[in-house]
Amino acid sequence: MSGERTDPSGEQAWIAAWQPEDATLAAARQRAAEVGVDAVDPVAGAALRLLAALTGARHAVELGTGAGVATLWLLQGLQPDGVLTSIDSEPEHQRLAKASLAEAGVASGRVRLIAGRALDVLPRLSDGAYDLVLCDAARAEALDYLPEAVRLLREGGAVVFAGALGGGRVADPSARDADTLAARELAKVVRDDPSLVPALLPVGTGLLAAVKRTAA
Ligand SMILES: C[S@@+](CC[C@H](N)C(=O)[O-])C[C@H]1O[C@@H](n2cnc3c(N)ncnc32)[C@H](O)[C@@H]1O
Repeated sequence: MSGERTDPSGEQAWIAAWQPEDATLAAARQRAAEVGVDAVDPVAGAALRLLAALTGARHAVELGTGAGVATLWLLQGLQPDGVLTSIDSEPEHQRLAKASLAEAGVASGRVRLIAGRALDVLPRLSDGAYDLVLCDAARAEALDYLPEAVRLLREGGAVVFAGALGGGRVADPSARDADTLAARELAKVVRDDPSLVPALLPVGTGLLAAVKRTAA
């Protein structure tokens, strides 16, 4: 999930310049651009890193590896021995992600790349075994990712949907395309789920984040 970003005030560009990406992230971003993959922007990347650090994440899942941009950001926030499982249906994208990870010097045991469709792979992952799940694969499937992501999370873990504001389209009542309607529905379902503590963050193209509550 992602979308065209709007930044009328220039704030997001200013923040990105305040915290520039290093050469390996820039190279991963370049790889993504070359194959038309919409990587999370640097501001969203830093927010994902923050969420990984805040949850003390040791085990995380990413749906939609792309060329590894969000993967690299998440790894920076994970515990030093943390492992990220990243799923993508396009072997070519994961080949690029492997190049990004190798260039960044990431140890092979820290990222488990799984080639396949998210909804086929998710059922193979264990209940309650993960601290953070990032959903950034097929926008139309996001509502189906939600119950699987919540199942994977331990209590206090967080699920995050990238591209949740669709670059301004989700808040624009005249936008009625399928992806926008799906993003609105997802935002509503996450907001109204009593088992989640939600926040819709206007970061990049939008991060819809929610923490799984401790059962009463
Ligand atoms: C927006 S990109 C991910 C960008 C990446 N998270 C980043 O920030 O660099 C979406 C990715 O999801 C993959 N994808 C699309 N549909 C998918 C599906 N149903 N299951 C798994 N991956 C899928 C695409 O191949 C693409 O690499």
